[in-house]
Amino acid sequence: MLNFALFGAGRIGKMHAQNIQAFAQSNLKYVFDVYAPAAEAVAKATGAKVAESVEMALADPDVDAVLIATSTDTHVELIIKAAKAGKAILCEKPIDLDTATVNACLEQIKDCHVPIQIGFNRRYDPSHAAVVKAAQDGSIGKLEQIIITSRDPGMAPVEYLKSSGGIFRDMIIHDFDMARFVLGEEIVELQAFGSAMVDEKITEIGDVDSVMVIMKSQSGRLIHINGSRRAIYGYDQRVEAFGSEGMVISNNQTPTSVTRYTKDTTQVKDPLYNFFIDRYVDAYNLQLTSFIENVLAKKPVSPSFEDGRRAQMLADAAQKSLETGQKVTLSW
Ligand SMILES: NC(=O)c1ccc[n+]([C@@H]2O[C@H](COP(=O)([O-])OP(=O)(O)OC[C@H]3O[C@@H](n4cnc5c(N)ncnc54)[C@H](O)[C@@H]3O)[C@@H](O)[C@H]2O)c1
Repeated sequence: MLNFALFGAGRIGKMHAQNIQAFAQSNLKYVFDVYAPAAEAVAKATGAKVAESVEMALADPDVDAVLIATSTDTHVELIIKAAKAGKAILCEKPIDLDTATVNACLEQIKDCHVPIQIGFNRRYDPSHAAVVKAAQDGSIGKLEQIIITSRDPGMAPVEYLKSSGGIFRDMIIHDFDMARFVLGEEIVELQAFGSAMVDEKITEIGDVDSVMVIMKSQSGRLIHINGSRRAIYGYDQRVEAFGSEGMVISNNQTPTSVTRYTKDTTQVKDPLYNFFIDRYVDAYNLQLTSFIENVLAKKPVSPSFEDGRRAQMLADAAQKSLETGQKVTLSW
């Protein structure tokens, strides 16, 4: 049994709380949020206790693990505190808003030797995982190209976007991680383009809402990520791997497989899932299950802190490319 403390009871923290309680090998002992009503609501729904502070939860020797689902700019501070308290850590992506802070965090926790898993949940999506398997087991021959489409259903509130670190660090970081996961090797060249096409107000906070990133891997494979903060037809999440002997695509999913036929249309499907909590329900459960099982079995957790750091470096490189208009070269 793994006893958890949950830090952050917002959009994603609420979901993690339910998942921890639903799994037989885990228990949510504490929840803490700087906004007390959020913590109280999760405590009421799950039977967990509201912790008075982060320190109080970390001081309890019965707490084995923490799940960090607070705003991004607080992750590093909480990782350091939890690691120094000897707790296993599952932290939401991204680790921070810039790589320098992530590197400083690594330095501070290097002697702690606690398991740290980063919340790149899409690695656990069964369809995306099938693409990764096909790309790496030779069933589509020699992998040559990857195309990732990543479009949110609608713009998040400007208040959230202001502190999000920008579209590459907040949103496309999932796709940088997916590209590394499918490739099984590092990306060495990158050029990013971006525009404000959905809402020009995004430029007032120094960000863009529509991006295309072209990348090249160590062995010369080509990767294209296209992203938008708005897709009028729902949450658009596709991963395609193309090789010398074929292609494999993880397509969009709908709540049912029903197709409808009328006098005006044929083969009309349900709308796409609206957003991440619905589309990736299996992935969130599987990433948590994997964390719990690996921590209990004292096996390595995945994706690791280093995976989080490397995706962060790609996000920083994309931001730099966008700002300078230049191609960025990465060395690992
Ligand atoms: N993996 C995914 O698919 C996914 C999806 C959404 C969000 N996220 C990540 O999860 C994190 C939270 O996002 P969200 O959408 O739930 O945000 P949110 O704003 O809904 O929730 C964040 C919560 O953290 C609380 N908080 C802030 N600082 C705190 C602190 N120091 N201690 C305790 N609580 C604190 C806030 O009061 C809030 O309730 C972000 O890092 C985000 O990037 C990941």
